[in-house]
Amino acid sequence: MYALLRRLLFLLPAETAHHVGFFALRWLSLVGLTRWLFGPRTQPERLAVNALGLRFPNPIGLAAGFDKNALGYNALGDLGFGFVEIGTVTFEPQAGNPRPRLFRLPIDRAVINRMGFNNDGARVVRDRLKGSRRVIVGVNIGKTKRVDEANAIADYEQSAAMLAPYADYLVVNVSSPNTPGLRDLQSVAKLRPLLLAVKQRMQEACTDRDVPLLVKIAPDLSDEDVDAVADLAVELELGGIIATNTTIGREGLMTDAQIVTACGGGGLSGAPLKQRSLEVLVRLRRRVGEGLVLIAAGGIETSEDVHERLQAGANLVQVYTGFIYAGPGLPSRLTRELALLP
Ligand code: FNR
Repeated sequence: MYALLRRLLFLLPAETAHHVGFFALRWLSLVGLTRWLFGPRTQPERLAVNALGLRFPNPIGLAAGFDKNALGYNALGDLGFGFVEIGTVTFEPQAGNPRPRLFRLPIDRAVINRMGFNNDGARVVRDRLKGSRRVIVGVNIGKTKRVDEANAIADYEQSAAMLAPYADYLVVNVSSPNTPGLRDLQSVAKLRPLLLAVKQRMQEACTDRDVPLLVKIAPDLSDEDVDAVADLAVELELGGIIATNTTIGREGLMTDAQIVTACGGGGLSGAPLKQRSLEVLVRLRRRVGEGLVLIAAGGIETSEDVHERLQAGANLVQVYTGFIYAGPGLPSRLTRELALLP
């Protein structure tokens, strides 16, 4: 069924198709149909994961960037995702980059985006998170574009203080390629004070419980930098690491080079990212031991992909681009198939 729907959706510009699809999903959920049409028939107990002080019904989550504004986390949960990460949210609302800023590369089952953290801002998103929940919700925060580097920490702190009380876990995103200078914050010298400050503000804002803090990293870090972030995460007793965000690389694509060049800058996601994201995961697990939670993202689309990441040391996984190509039945299919794997 989605094959036909996808053909129609793919006639639209990618960002318009996203809004149409997401609106339809939310509407179907409001009238109780999302779960009935696409949701899992059963939720096998053996897929449940205890991590970050939470019990995830299954390890397959939706990655940040799909529901940037917390508009439809319950509808997405109805599809069978074990958790949904909303955001990236910045403290101030912002429009993001000019359109077009989202491009499909169907031959590669990939996407290029330079959305640039378009979102409604922390205040509005916080109010949307006050509603009742049917799914675990992580909140991913980033730097407001107009804020300069000298004030970046204060900007993240404000978002953390506002959003952590409504988050099941909080993610500091320092790995988007679409906010100038953001990825420089991944260097340990800059990351340590940032994470320490965010952690402190979260503790002040959430006196009744410990909200786990995670950091999301780029696949383009050198191996030495991956190790350095891993060591820092252990030192600061973070909840975990999300590996990885999109890549600025364009290697190994089958799509015509002229088409790729015409898309312009931005982060590449989907199948071409799979190998490097897996390598980063393996490296992280070796480095951090068993203590930290690792959430794997990057090119995951099949139950074999999920299984491979779990075997490689991930506690949980996330999908985004695979969801665009495979459609709303993906989480149910993945959980069903995963339950059958040894
Ligand atoms: C993303 N991603 C992303 N990540 C993030 O931390 N904050 C964000 O706002 C976004 N926005 C975003 C928009 C679009 C259109 C895409 C395709 C991706 C990255 C995403 O969460 C994920 O880390 C990567 O896409 C890798 O996973 P997939 O897509 O290969 O499954």
